[in-house]
Amino acid sequence: MAQGLERRVAEAADLVTVALDALLPRADGPESRLTEAMRYAALGPGKRLRPFFALETGKMFDLPERPVLRAACALECIHAYSLVHDDLPCMDDDDLRRGRPTVHIEYDEATAVLVGDALQTAAFEIMAHPDTHQDGNIRAELVRRLAVASGAQGMVGGQMIDILGVREDLGGVARMQRLKTGALIAYAFEIPLVMAHAQEAERHALMAFAQDLGLAYQIVDDVLDAEGDPQTLGKAAGGKDAAKGKANYVTLLGLEAAKERVELLSAQTKAHLDGFGERASVLRDSVDFVLDRRS
Ligand code: IPE
Ligand code: IPE
Ligand code: MG
Ligand code: MG
Ligand code: MG
Repeated sequence: MAQGLERRVAEAADLVTVALDALLPRADGPESRLTEAMRYAALGPGKRLRPFFALETGKMFDLPERPVLRAACALECIHAYSLVHDDLPCMDDDDLRRGRPTVHIEYDEATAVLVGDALQTAAFEIMAHPDTHQDGNIRAELVRRLAVASGAQGMVGGQMIDILGVREDLGGVARMQRLKTGALIAYAFEIPLVMAHAQEAERHALMAFAQDLGLAYQIVDDVLDAEGDPQTLGKAAGGKDAAKGKANYVTLLGLEAAKERVELLSAQTKAHLDGFGERASVLRDSVDFVLDRRS
């Protein structure tokens, strides 16, 4: 199964990269520096896991692929923007992303700030476009939920807590991770849920699944920061989070306890899918696949 899943993830990634390439702006004038840098940030070799989850869940609900794919591209633009800003000297100050120089290194800081700004608005432009869905109410709902997941009550709020490095209890760290990483991962499932007018029980189950998955995903990211290989990871490692005084499961609990937490969360995450039976087999298998990652 793992091999089949690997192929499925790779196919989804290719689909998304091709679609993003067509959706992202190009320019001829001096602003072409911005559009080139946006493409550098968004089209680089990311795993495209959020779009993968949106597309797979779309299949689970028998949705047509095109609307889900466009909405997933919008989500990936927000994610790419979050990484560009996350890497800035005033944030995590990183030089390497997806195996290449970060945007502020390859271009400059001002360009990196503008790339984030413009990828964020590109996301909303794509989502609100009539080609994304024929039903304006669904588009409006997707836009609203994307704004919530991205903003002060979601990713950006979590980034604020991360930067403050507040050393609270584990509950505080879990909340930070739910906001900074969990909210955008959960949004991947919101896309098909909204498009399919899913029932409350299905929404609850998938949101619980996404929440645990997002938390486990960020703990794995923190484990990889502590013991991963920068070459394979394509970004900084070597205990950079600890050196910067970040509060996370690894810096608070230690590596072994953090890994145990991932094991526990993995089982808990999959259990949320019980009610879907065989329909959710790909999602169920993808939990181990994404949590066993080395990059
Ligand atoms: C990195 O996200 C930032 C986190 C939220 C952990 P990904 O691990 O999805 O990064 P890419 O998109 O594959 O580069
Ligand atoms: C990033 O968390 C979360 C974002 C919202 C971008 P990290 O700062 O740990 O992500 P990496 O390790 O730089 O990818
Ligand atoms: Mg960060
Ligand atoms: Mg970072
Ligand atoms: Mg990290």
